[in-house]
Amino acid sequence: MQKKLFIMGNWKMNLTVSQSKKLSEEIIAESQRMDLPPEVSVMIAPTYLAISEVAKTLVSCPIHLGVQDMHYLDDGAFTSKISGSMILDTGARFVILGHSELRQFFGETDEIVNKKVAKALSIGLTPVLCVGETLDEREQGKWEQVLQRQVEKGLKGISGPEMRKVIIAYEPVWAIGTGKTASTDEADEAHAFIRSVTPEKISILYGGSMKSTNALELLSCKNIDGGLIGGASLVTKEFCDILAIAKSICLSGNN
Ligand code: PGA
Repeated sequence: MQKKLFIMGNWKMNLTVSQSKKLSEEIIAESQRMDLPPEVSVMIAPTYLAISEVAKTLVSCPIHLGVQDMHYLDDGAFTSKISGSMILDTGARFVILGHSELRQFFGETDEIVNKKVAKALSIGLTPVLCVGETLDEREQGKWEQVLQRQVEKGLKGISGPEMRKVIIAYEPVWAIGTGKTASTDEADEAHAFIRSVTPEKISILYGGSMKSTNALELLSCKNIDGGLIGGASLVTKEFCDILAIAKSICLSGNN
């Protein structure tokens, strides 16, 4: 089967509005020059502040726009939060949910993540559900248990056809922003496990220190359908080198 890859940039709390606009314009120019095939999809997720400006740069461009979180309610007294309808209004169609930084530092639980996933689907946003074990959990041999819990609770109550629209990102917490990457065997094994506990075939991206020097081996893995990239997505050359690698894998018909 023809391999398809989805490459996503999670800009986290980085870049001013003008820097975000510049990075987006550079990625657009470079991806056009590269002539990416339809098998390679791209999404970038700037900060909320930069969404509108970045959205303008993406008009008539196949690169998708995403945001990094949302509330599960439509509106109300929730200082600092944004809702799904606000996201839709910007033109963004993807929302990263359950990122480990929110789970670790902002008290995000599986139950909250589940409400957000359900809300996103109900209004036509594609949720990118992040799951991943900590170093302790891996060392104690609990990684399968943790992934199963996060996936099952995150997708609780979601019907089969709806579930197919969800994208899962496997991001081992110990590999995020640390420079440590899961080995291809570890990543592929975790992806295969997630596939075995998801009733429908859904895309599973890898995240955690992916960069141009390890993207080829990770993205070539049978069970890896793309990457959710933090640090390396902030540098035009790095991100575009990963896009070029994705293109070469898809065109070589690997898989
Ligand atoms: P990283 O972040 O590529 O900087 O490790 C990935 C992520 O947290 O989405």
